[in-house]
Amino acid sequence: MQVSSFVQKLPKVELHLHIEGTLEPDLKFKLAQRNGIELAEKTAQEVYDSYQFTDLASFLASYYDGMQVLRTSADFYDLAMEYLKKAAAQNVRYAEIFFDPQAHTCRGVSFDTVISGLHRAQVEAEQTLGIQSALIMCFLRDFQAEYAMATLLEALPYKKWILGVGLDSDETGNAPDKFAAVFARARQEGFLLTMHADVDIKDSIEHIRQLIEEIKVDRIDHGTNVGENSQYVDYLVEHKIGLTCCPVSNTWVSDGSKIPLIAKLAERGVKVSINSDDPAYFRGYINENFQLVADELGADPEFLAQLSLNAVDISWAAPSLKERLRAEIRATLN
Ligand code: HPA
Ligand code: ZN
Repeated sequence: MQVSSFVQKLPKVELHLHIEGTLEPDLKFKLAQRNGIELAEKTAQEVYDSYQFTDLASFLASYYDGMQVLRTSADFYDLAMEYLKKAAAQNVRYAEIFFDPQAHTCRGVSFDTVISGLHRAQVEAEQTLGIQSALIMCFLRDFQAEYAMATLLEALPYKKWILGVGLDSDETGNAPDKFAAVFARARQEGFLLTMHADVDIKDSIEHIRQLIEEIKVDRIDHGTNVGENSQYVDYLVEHKIGLTCCPVSNTWVSDGSKIPLIAKLAERGVKVSINSDDPAYFRGYINENFQLVADELGADPEFLAQLSLNAVDISWAAPSLKERLRAEIRATLN
């Protein structure tokens, strides 16, 4: 996709990015070789050809399969460093990055191995590339709540490296309230809270109700189905609960980008932001997501800048960084 010069130069904030979803075929081959793993696919094209997602479940099968090559702290460092380099090159100034510790601990890779590699890359990227980042630890909703609670407790010694907690993986049959106790404890421990409300999932409005009334999240990942219920739209506006939307991802797992709906929610005052989700699988980083918005709605720099400002507003960055980013974004309109 050709990215316009305005999209490229716009300072951006990434709020919905699964680090395991940034595993590009070339890195997958490198890590497989380093760890002595035989892969079924031999070329990047064969890997891409294997991505035939029609919904969230079929995407998740490839996503969990791909991450088997991640074994050592160096692997997690390489994964995060490659992402942070790409993000910095696309003028992402600050990223809040999801990681899925249970997708690794469940196959014998330790929590420390995962987070120490990611953290080392974050520190180095800030020094060498000037990109700031934070981690959000996601629980896998298709596992038991007890495993999520054990993971939360295991993470407590690393609290200073983790800004918030989230909930991802297969939403069907795994409602937010399954994790009410885990998220209550996370809140007590000082973590900020977000959860996925995936697009066009069964019972999506009931799940959104639980997110806002029972879990009381600070932010919602995806969540565009809220447009079906004007009372909840008003609630998001009033309580400044933002949505982290991922248009390119939506084209793979639902029936389109949902950009018209995202624009309508923006018009109604919801703080919607534009993000990448799993860019190595969906073939689009943040610039490609902004460009899709520009292509579908007509490239209005004011609106694109507003989307970037929304991301700053709903981010969990320090107030001083938020002010600096707002000034940089506004300056691109002059
Ligand atoms: N939704 C749910 N789980 C996920 C996603 C997603 O978009 N990406 C990685 N895990
Ligand atoms: Zn996601």
